[in-house]
Amino acid sequence: MASILFVLVPICLVLAIHGTSALNNGLARTPPMGWMAWERFLCETNCKLYPNDCINSNLFEKMADRLEADGYLKLGYQYINIDDCWSELSRDEVTQQLVPDQVRFPKGINHLAGYVHARGLKLGIYGDCGTKTCAGYPGQLKSEFNHEDNYFDLDANTLKEWQIDSFKFDGCNINPFKAEFMCPQMSKSLKSTQREILLTCEWPTYMIQANRSAEVNWELAQLSCNMWRYFYDVEDSWMSVLSIIDFSIKIQSTIVKYHGPGGWFDPDQLVIGNFGLSLAQAEAQMAIWSIWSAPLFMSNDLRDIDPAMANVLKNEHLIDINQDQLGVFGLMVDNQRDGLIQAFVKPIETIKNGCPSFAIVYLYRDALGDRKDISFNLRNLLVNASEAIQVAAQRYKQIYSSYQPGGPFDAASCLERLSKANTRDPSSIPENLVAGGTAMSVEYTRVSYNVFDLIQEKPLADVSLDSVLELEVSPSGVRAVKLTEIS
Ligand code: GLA
Repeated sequence: MASILFVLVPICLVLAIHGTSALNNGLARTPPMGWMAWERFLCETNCKLYPNDCINSNLFEKMADRLEADGYLKLGYQYINIDDCWSELSRDEVTQQLVPDQVRFPKGINHLAGYVHARGLKLGIYGDCGTKTCAGYPGQLKSEFNHEDNYFDLDANTLKEWQIDSFKFDGCNINPFKAEFMCPQMSKSLKSTQREILLTCEWPTYMIQANRSAEVNWELAQLSCNMWRYFYDVEDSWMSVLSIIDFSIKIQSTIVKYHGPGGWFDPDQLVIGNFGLSLAQAEAQMAIWSIWSAPLFMSNDLRDIDPAMANVLKNEHLIDINQDQLGVFGLMVDNQRDGLIQAFVKPIETIKNGCPSFAIVYLYRDALGDRKDISFNLRNLLVNASEAIQVAAQRYKQIYSSYQPGGPFDAASCLERLSKANTRDPSSIPENLVAGGTAMSVEYTRVSYNVFDLIQEKPLADVSLDSVLELEVSPSGVRAVKLTEIS
């Protein structure tokens, strides 16, 4: 190989990695997946008028049947989660235990858990760190004024008794600034039951909704919860999905540090298969949630879902990207036309030549006109993902403490390789990568990638690191590809 004169490309490697302090309950090592009642079925309690759409045991049994029989479980959708409005409006007068609604859950939650477990699924249920849930059912706090006075231990034991596997702990009816001192204690109560119960927390989202995002203690969320909400409730519309994408991009440098095995930022449910998203928009939500390593909880009616929408939810390639063991939050690394076109990059396994493979999503947000050919310079995309690459390398070392199947993966050398490979002539380096102007000599390395289309499920033409990656994208749609280095 010829040596050439080169310009040094300094790369900022100052990211502090916080990925080691996740809640140590062994759960959610990859983003949890399942089905959740809320967005589609809300708090419908009138089973006379709406026998198929009300919150009762029948709804969860039917969804459990579908999850198993229609192949969702096999793909990883494992949890089936009851949300608000499942209990009586008061606790048992004598024991103070929560009581399931006697009419809608006549055989109790334990019975439903048995039904769900018999199908290989896990059952989740819902509560609230305040005095009442958001819909006004009993919460886990006794009094707003005395936070020590709570039902955390009592209710954690009830969850254990009922064989619950997951608990969503909402944050209504408690002061969002006091919640941080109070709500994390639930994780201790759950732990002391010695049953494995995945914990979803909501207090960060209420702090953020009160415009105090800078004050959220993410380390505490990571230490206490397996996943946590951080933005408003998703609704069945493209506008709502875009608002979640926008906010997540705004805080992506924070997310990428604290998001990973054991503890995940939760952008909320997949609304795919309902009324508000077109097929292209459904693909977009699935692709973005996957490149983020976000929990994948669909909320829809699996008894009556458009097969094309079901196929989006069952896309094994996107699910593989979502479940990648490194668990990195893919970053929005480049954009065009003032953000109307955005490119996201996520480093994933397999490691080759000291660098990871990559998932890339192009999101075209315009809602008019025809499909567009969108091109980004590939080297820029990958080098701009340096924060994510550093997190990936750190994870890789944690996961494979001694044996590293793809060989060593060191972020600094990988980024140097990505910056310099394929460049014989210093003038060919894109201007935004040239800094400092220090000349140095490097080995000439050729790097190019196999490109696989994750949605169309077929290989595309190979691409070289120093060329553009061009994809045709439809309005309000995405293209999603996986890049594996050709060795
Ligand atoms: C809040 C949560 C939702 C849902 C409802 C239930 O709004 O963010 O996900 O659980 O409460 O009332």
